[in-house]
Amino acid sequence: MINVAQVSTTFMPGTPFAKNALKDVSFAVEEPSFVAIAGRSGCGKSTLLKLIGGLLQADSGSIEVESFLMGGKQRSAAATAALVAMAFQNPEHQFFAETVREELSFGARNIGKSQREIDRAIREMLPLTGLNDSYLLRSPFELSGGEQRRVALASIFLMDTPVILLDEPTAGLDPVGRRRICAMVKTMQRKGKTVLWVGHDLPEMVSLADRLLIMAEGRLIFDGAPEKISADKALRDKAGLLADDFDLDAVLRENYGILPASDAYLKLKRFFTGEGD
Ligand SMILES: Nc1ncnc2c1ncn2[C@@H]1O[C@H](COP(=O)(O)OP(=O)(O)OP(=O)(O)O)[C@@H](O)[C@H]1O
Ligand SMILES: [Mg+2]
Repeated sequence: MINVAQVSTTFMPGTPFAKNALKDVSFAVEEPSFVAIAGRSGCGKSTLLKLIGGLLQADSGSIEVESFLMGGKQRSAAATAALVAMAFQNPEHQFFAETVREELSFGARNIGKSQREIDRAIREMLPLTGLNDSYLLRSPFELSGGEQRRVALASIFLMDTPVILLDEPTAGLDPVGRRRICAMVKTMQRKGKTVLWVGHDLPEMVSLADRLLIMAEGRLIFDGAPEKISADKALRDKAGLLADDFDLDAVLRENYGILPASDAYLKLKRFFTGEGD
């Protein structure tokens, strides 16, 4: 589905500000799955998503989505849009339309759907977002941060692409807002989509992900099942994931409503402590 092969890229090459943002990054996603991507601020996560989404071109290496070469010479915007949809780190950067209905319709119309089909899809989608009909005629710019994220995600989902890229989709939201977003993403997972989720909140991502990628300074330093790095404290420190006084039980209970002995709790506990391996 996704094949990233030896990708490197440098911003502003040949200037004093040159930044080698990705260094020889390779990984492949063979089947529909949920991949979480973590790592310190500035390590290259958004750059990687933009490359996969065809918004940037790598200096070297190649990126294929469903055997289509992204950023390649034969690249066509329409073909790219049918394969990958991306939610940006700041949803307001994604908006341009005067109403939520128009915002939701644009991408789907671009890939050839009729307004009738789109309106039907919007009606089906709305309950999932927790928004109602009255939002459709409002300006997306005047919504709350959480509402904006849900509209942004809904517009991505309506494009119905096999690959969905989410850049920090829950950043800045309260626990209820985060749970809503997680529920929307889980629905996509059930529909067989491949989701790449970039974020800083490891417990949240691990509770959803089949696979975890960790980046540091432009390199991929871990790729595997989340449970695998449980015992590797040095790796966790390198990736800047957890403070030493991190109280897992309290975080899970208070922020996520995850109770001890639930499946999600046991999975996370294993991840952080290595117990039960
Ligand atoms: N358009 C650009 N021009 C110049 N440098 C850039 C550009 N975009 C990103 N960079 C630099 O490349 C590096 C990686 O940036 P990127 O946005 O991918 O990081 P990130 O992992 O998404 O960080 P965060 O978690 O803060 O969102 C950073 O040092 C950043 O300053
Ligand atoms: Mg980023």
